[in-house]
This record gives sequence, C-alpha cells and structure tokens, in this order.
Amino acid sequence: MANVAVVGAQWGDEGKGKIVDWLSSRADVVVRFQGGHNAGHTLVINGVEYKLSLLPSGVVRASKLSVIGNGVVFDPWAFLREVEAIRAKGVTVTPENLIVAENVALILPIHSAVDKAREEARGASKIGTTGRGIGPAYEDKVARRAIRLCDLTDEAALADKVEQLLFHHNAVLRGLGSPEVTAAELLEPLKEIAPKILPFAGVVWKTLDEMRRAGKRILFEGAQGAMLDVDHGTYPYVTSSNTVAGNAATGSGMGPRAVGYVLGICKAYTTRVGSGPFPTEDLTEVGELIGQRGREFGTVTGRKRRCGWFDAVLVRQAIKTGGIDGIALTKLDVLDGLDAIKVCIGYRLDGKEIDHLPANAAEQARVEPIYETFEGWGESTQGARTWAELPAQAVKYVRHIEELIQAPVALLSTSPERDDTILMHDPFAD
Ligand code: GDP
Ligand code: IMO
Ligand code: MG
Repeated sequence: MANVAVVGAQWGDEGKGKIVDWLSSRADVVVRFQGGHNAGHTLVINGVEYKLSLLPSGVVRASKLSVIGNGVVFDPWAFLREVEAIRAKGVTVTPENLIVAENVALILPIHSAVDKAREEARGASKIGTTGRGIGPAYEDKVARRAIRLCDLTDEAALADKVEQLLFHHNAVLRGLGSPEVTAAELLEPLKEIAPKILPFAGVVWKTLDEMRRAGKRILFEGAQGAMLDVDHGTYPYVTSSNTVAGNAATGSGMGPRAVGYVLGICKAYTTRVGSGPFPTEDLTEVGELIGQRGREFGTVTGRKRRCGWFDAVLVRQAIKTGGIDGIALTKLDVLDGLDAIKVCIGYRLDGKEIDHLPANAAEQARVEPIYETFEGWGESTQGARTWAELPAQAVKYVRHIEELIQAPVALLSTSPERDDTILMHDPFAD
C-alpha cells in the first residue's frame, strides 16, 4: 500500500481540502508539509462547513493523527485561533491527535507587517500575497535566523536569537525610514504563548518513521498549487515554497520513497487569486458566471478569484514537473448547462506555436491560448456519486482531458459535500 500526496495542479483552491478529507478515511495520519495559514481548505460534511488554514484536513476525524511538518511556516497565534474555532464546532483537538514538528520555523508578527509593507511598496506590480507573512518567514528560515518552535523552550537562548533576528530587520526598517522593533515587543508575546503551544511540539520525523514501519498509511496534504511553486510556477507571482510532491518528503522529515502515489487536484476550469499571468482567464460574462456558480471567493482573504477555462498545457506541465500519477477533477458540476466549453490545448507566442509555458515572466504574460471548443451538457452532474450517473457528454469531456494532460482521472468531485465523490482508482491501492 502506497502513501499518497495530494497537491494542487493549478494556482491553488482546486479542492484539495475536500479530497484530503475524503481520502483521510483510508489513512492513519495526515501531514501538512509546506505553506502556512495562507492556505484555505474548505470541507463540507453533512452540510456543515469547516474552513482550515494551518491544520491538516484530517483533523475533523479525531481518530486520525494530524501532523504539521517542518516544511510549514507556523504562526502560533493563528494556530491557537484555529484550534479554538474547530473545537467550537465540536471537533476534538488535543496534543494526542495533533503534533507540530519541533523544528518548524515560526511566523512572527514582524513577518506579516513586512509582507504587507512590501506589497504596498510594489504598488501596481504587487504579488497579491495573502499578507500572512509567508514570504518573509521563509526568507528568515533560509537566511538561518528564524525562530523555531524548539527555541521557545529556553528563554535565555531565545532572547539571543531575537536579537540576531532584529539586527537584520531593524537595519531594513531604518533604511525604509520605518520605526524599529524592540526585542521586548517580540519576546514578550512569544514567552506568553510558549506554554500554550509547546504541548503540541513533537519529533515528527520519528513519529512518522514509526508509523511507516508499523504499516500505517500516510496522507500528505499540499497547499497552494504547481503554478504557485517557487521554482516551477509563474515566478515571481508565486508563493515562497515548493508546492510539488517532492517537498512532501523534505517538509515532513521522510525520504523520497515514502511519498508513493501523487494525486494532483484540478478544477474542470481554472482560477487564480492575486496577480500574475493567466493565459485562459475569461473576462466576459461567461467567466463571471463560472465564478458565481463555483462561488469563487477566497477562503483566507475573501478576494474574488479570477476565472477562466481549463488549461491542459498548464496541467500537463504540472503533471510532469510534479510527478503526478493521477488527477482528482473537481467542480465538474460548475460547467453544467454551458452550451460550449473551451479547453486550451496549446499556446501561441509571438506568432509561433508552443506546447509549454515558458519560464520568462514577460513571455508568460504574452502567450495566447489556442482553444478547442467542446460541446456542453444540459443535464446536471451535481451530486453524482457514480460514473453511470454522468451525462455522456460530461464523460467525454473527462476522457478528453485525460488524453490532453497525459494522466488518468482517479477521482471526480461533483459538489462541495464530502460524499459527492466518484472513485475511479484508489490512490492507496498502488
Ligand atoms: P483548496 O484550497 O484546494 O482546498 O480549495 P478551496 O477549499 O479553497 O476551494 C474549493 C472550493 O470549492 C471550496 O469551497 C469547496 O467546498 C468547493 N468544492 C470542492 N469540490 C467541489 C465540487 O466538486 N463542486 C463544487 N461546486 N464545489 C466544490
Ligand atoms: P490553497 O492551499 C490560492 C497566492 C496568493 C498570491 C501568492 C503569494 O488554499 O490552495 P503568499 O501569501 O503565499 O506569499 O501569496 O500565492 N496563494 C494562494 N492562492 N490558494 C492558496 O492556497 C494560496 N496561497 C497563496 O494569492 O498570489
Ligand atoms: Mg484554498
């Protein structure tokens, strides 16, 4: 039995949370390995909606272990708020069923302040970040000055680390003519929160190794999507981590062979939040209609998501760069009733046809999609739970997408509700 990694194959919000929640009935542990509370994963279980940002989507099943791996950037205040919110919905969350890697890097208040200030300074060329401090926290981690969860156990050493961190940040703030931050401003809230979060700290790599050796099944939950990957995405309009499944191993303290089957999630169309190139964006009333039907508003920031057609070139690229074995195709129901459905099958760049998205940002902004128009279906797919319930034309659309992206569709999703899911191939069975 393989372990499974679930990753986004577009620009995020593909429905990873729903699919992870559905698959978690077959798993023993669910692990977040990158990103932070920039993610917004929505689950709907018997009509009740759960919105998760930092907690793994397996957390609603109290008998499963939830793990926040070392590759995540961890905001302790956001964490506690989310734990309280989910407990208020009747979900049991304790250090018994939720552990956080002791070597996780922390997001501090200074990081979200820097994130927002920088976006403001970029003006029209802003990235459109979630403002959660994700980028600045990863920068501090790579620069070897981050405060990590394990640092909260020793107050004297923590004070030294805060001094070093501020040595850098205050130099930048001085340069910008902004007020500096004192050590006490950072230290006091950290000392206050330490006893509340340290009970959740654990040696994640060891726990996962033990579980693996005991034959337990591990489900890795990606955040964001392949086109937001810091290497393979539409740089610089990306997030600050590797979102591809290769990072599931590094970000949880396991080797590459631990990952197993890679399930890419994509919508039957495309959305994007924030700035950056989006070749198949549809700015007409059809794009607007898709957005309304798909309720395309961000979970984290409430921003309206940009909408457009399925881009087979991008998804195929995500499959190759991310080692995706199969796809979960979500939100098929949103296309119900459309007369014509467009699918991008290639690009034209400066008059020449190309079969991939180039790395250069200016070229990415210039590519024009080559569309194929597909006949729609009048019947409803909403809530379908078996392949036999789908209209013939919808089946054709799914089969055609499989050919274009060169990967099989393993799961289909037909509504936000957990059980409105069609299994075609069990990823854990590989
Ligand atoms: P994630 O970030 O990849 O977990 O995706 P989000 O949760 O941010 O966004 C996906 C949205 O679509 C959520 O509101 C889900 O409840 C909803 N959703 C998921 N699958 C389906 C589906 O098959 N059909 C419809 N109509 N909505 C879906
Ligand atoms: P989930 O896990 C969609 C986008 C932001 C911005 C860029 C950088 O719900 O799919 P950041 O705050 O990470 O520095 O922002 O990445 N972004 C997302 N877009 N879904 C997400 O997560 C996202 N997380 C970040 O909008 O364009
Ligand atoms: Mg989301």
